[in-house]
Amino acid sequence: MTKKAKLLNLPKILDVRGNLSFIEGGNHIPFEIERVYWIYDVPGGEQRGGHAFKEQHEFIVAMSGSFDVVVNNGNEEKIYHLNRSYYGLYIPCCKWRRMENFSTNSLALVIASTRYDESDYIRDFNKFKTFINERD
Ligand code: TYD
Repeated sequence: MTKKAKLLNLPKILDVRGNLSFIEGGNHIPFEIERVYWIYDVPGGEQRGGHAFKEQHEFIVAMSGSFDVVVNNGNEEKIYHLNRSYYGLYIPCCKWRRMENFSTNSLALVIASTRYDESDYIRDFNKFKTFINERD
């Protein structure tokens, strides 16, 4: 069965000195962490990440500021607004996703299950639809 994108809460250690959250691979997110990257200094109105992955799973957190992650499963599109660092969006493989509406000074952390591999990308939406249909 095709997995769904899902918002996941992270541990939150409240402290008068400042709060703390953390992520353990295979525990708080359902995959082992192979790579971490982040997107920052996004000019107003820009979009990032209009593509899908054949294998990679990922978890996206708004470490600072806010942005929307638009997830398309080939049939329907859902928008997730991320604006706190104590939860994030788990996206299993094979979803078309893009990030938009970045606020000023926003910082998007992406935790990935694979190393960067251009051959895992599907960058054409029609090819993505074909991939999904052949897979299901
Ligand atoms: P990409 O994932 O294509 O971002 P977007 O879909 O938002 O344009 O990444 C942009 C470029 O950055 C890509 O051509 C290669 C490089 N890159 C790496 O070298 N390593 C990485 O881990 C990532 C995510 C990107």
